Amino acid sequence: MSTNPYIKQTFNIQKQSQLIRKDFPLLNLYSGDNQLHYLDNAATSQKPQQVIDAISDCYQRVNAPVHRGLYALADESTTTYEKSRKKVAQFIGAPQSEQLIFTLSATESINMVAQGWLKHHLNAGDKVWVTGMEHHANLVPWQRVCKETGAELCFIELTEDGSLDLDNATELYSEKTRFIAMSHVSNVLGVINPVKEVTQRAAQAGIPVLIDATQSVGHIPVDVVELDCDFLAFSAHKMYGPTGIGALYGKADKLATMEPMLLGGGMVDEVGDYESSWASLPSKLEAGSPNLAGAIGFASAVDYIESIGLQTIESIVSELTEKALFALSNINGIKIYGPLDSERREGIISFNLDGIHPHDIAQIAGESNVAIRSGHHCCQPLMRRLGEVATVRASFAPYNIEEEINALLEVIETAQSIFMPR
Ligand SMILES: Cc1ncc(COP(=O)(O)O)c(C=O)c1O
Repeated sequence: MSTNPYIKQTFNIQKQSQLIRKDFPLLNLYSGDNQLHYLDNAATSQKPQQVIDAISDCYQRVNAPVHRGLYALADESTTTYEKSRKKVAQFIGAPQSEQLIFTLSATESINMVAQGWLKHHLNAGDKVWVTGMEHHANLVPWQRVCKETGAELCFIELTEDGSLDLDNATELYSEKTRFIAMSHVSNVLGVINPVKEVTQRAAQAGIPVLIDATQSVGHIPVDVVELDCDFLAFSAHKMYGPTGIGALYGKADKLATMEPMLLGGGMVDEVGDYESSWASLPSKLEAGSPNLAGAIGFASAVDYIESIGLQTIESIVSELTEKALFALSNINGIKIYGPLDSERREGIISFNLDGIHPHDIAQIAGESNVAIRSGHHCCQPLMRRLGEVATVRASFAPYNIEEEINALLEVIETAQSIFMPR
């Protein structure tokens, strides 16, 4: 029996979470002592039956080449693909469907901007800014393009509590700055960054901004017109959709001047023996056979989120986060990274325990079916800034229940009793 007072505290079971949980077959595979406590949602979310059914229906009813056939079924597959684009585009407030490019992932979306757009707008001595908390996906592509062009990569550093230290990034909007790439929500600190403040100042200085919205779309409201960003990248699998499909939003003028990174079928207009011309948007940036089932699954994930309501999702996750932060911050020897104020966070909490390696905690958790993550979370530069090699990360989704916070607390207690016996 646990001795942690916070474990004994009886939380109100969130009825909505319980209902939402029923939609996720994988979570319901396990019951009783085997119950899976999936707290690795920042890595990938589970998929509701509605999304699984939509993908299955695609292969049972709609499957045919997209943009390539003249028969009725091919017509239907094309229409469904484009309807899916429209749905995802509308979800982020894109003015036109064509501004939403289906990609493999957020990673591919960011690489496309680095190689297909920024590379053609950078000269030696120019500056590209990122933050000290970026996922490798929103860092390594900019490192390469800076090396290739002789531009300088600059960092917005962090304050003690893991917020962006914008006050000290004095050169951010300088004449030399050609581009800013930043995450909306950190996948380690959970902090929600003031992206609007940056895009507003950047717009006045004529500097394009890319937002890595991989941890925000589907979790908190994201409207590209409101944010006034030039590019926005995200992945379906972090928002209850399938793996293997992501999206890139771009302002029309930016996408129009973007060079395709991938060349081949579907993205061309006229192909000669030695020269080719490109198709119009969005096809220009979607070479190869489109991912029909992925797009349908993506749109169905948006339908699912809308059926629950983004506000409901936000409030469930925020309540879980607040409770987890409260309980965790009362544990001896714990260090929690990022702001402790749950209002400034998404449902991601990274922490370390004195004298215990994060992998040991994750392993003990695994033995109790508590799925959490340990490691650098693809954020090695952030780890260096935190003075750590790794952290433990628990991340919440609306299907998580308060009982799962207790399961996590028990894991911590077990780890402390093994590694730090009194
Ligand atoms: C903040 C952030 N950006 C980018 C990515 C990359 O996403 P994907 O692996 O889906 O391309 C991730 C994935 O963890 C992420 O958390």
